[in-house]
Amino acid sequence: MGNEETTKAAFETWAKGLSAYSMELGHRLPHRWWLQKLSSPQNGKVLDMGCGTGWASRMVARVAPDGEVVGIDFVEGMIEKAKQFTLKDKSHKYGNLSFMVADVEDIPYPDDYFHSVMCLESFSWFPNPEAALREMKRVLIPGGGLYVADIADSRSARLILKAWRLFIPGLDKWNIYSENLFKELVEAEFTDLHQEKGSWIFSPFGERVLLTVGTKKE
Ligand SMILES: C[S@@+](CC[C@H](N)C(=O)[O-])C[C@H]1O[C@@H](n2cnc3c(N)ncnc32)[C@H](O)[C@@H]1O
Repeated sequence: MGNEETTKAAFETWAKGLSAYSMELGHRLPHRWWLQKLSSPQNGKVLDMGCGTGWASRMVARVAPDGEVVGIDFVEGMIEKAKQFTLKDKSHKYGNLSFMVADVEDIPYPDDYFHSVMCLESFSWFPNPEAALREMKRVLIPGGGLYVADIADSRSARLILKAWRLFIPGLDKWNIYSENLFKELVEAEFTDLHQEKGSWIFSPFGERVLLTVGTKKE
């Protein structure tokens, strides 16, 4: 099996079990700090790339009622769960939110479409990060922002990966990039780059979320 097939198979299994719920709950706390300042105008279009079960897509859809939020993931089980969870959430109508199955290297949207593209703990799984960045840049409007929020290399991140592998076989395609490598990769395609780290307080397992933001040149 190639890199992509292994990751897909692992996440298909993940989507079926309790892990789907663990992502819904476990990712919310360490990512809230930056999601709240995501620059998405009320009527903006936002892509959640590698959306998993879609908790972040729903969170953005709730604050951008006149916008359009699209969650994309290449695992069918994840998208099924995202749709189910959305239907179950009666707190919002979600007419502004849709989900679809697609690969980050082939996003089924025209050039210059989204105001923001966000990747929450998904970028490190993409087998060809350079190709993924080029494709995400293609669908962003000039001046639009890319938000990559992920776990950067650290002792605790490596320990967590080890522990996960005991419970979820096949998850060996997680590339734990260093802070510098995130910077270099994003900087190759985007301008006005900046990086920020979340607080330890929101990282129950000791992993701090690193946010890398880049802008598509006007
Ligand atoms: C760790 S999960 C994070 C999900 C979600 N963003 C969250 O924060 O809960 C990573 C997700 O990236 C998706 N993914 C990995 N590689 C992908 C690719 N090449 N194209 C699209 N989605 C991908 C996986 O299927 C998985 O749902």
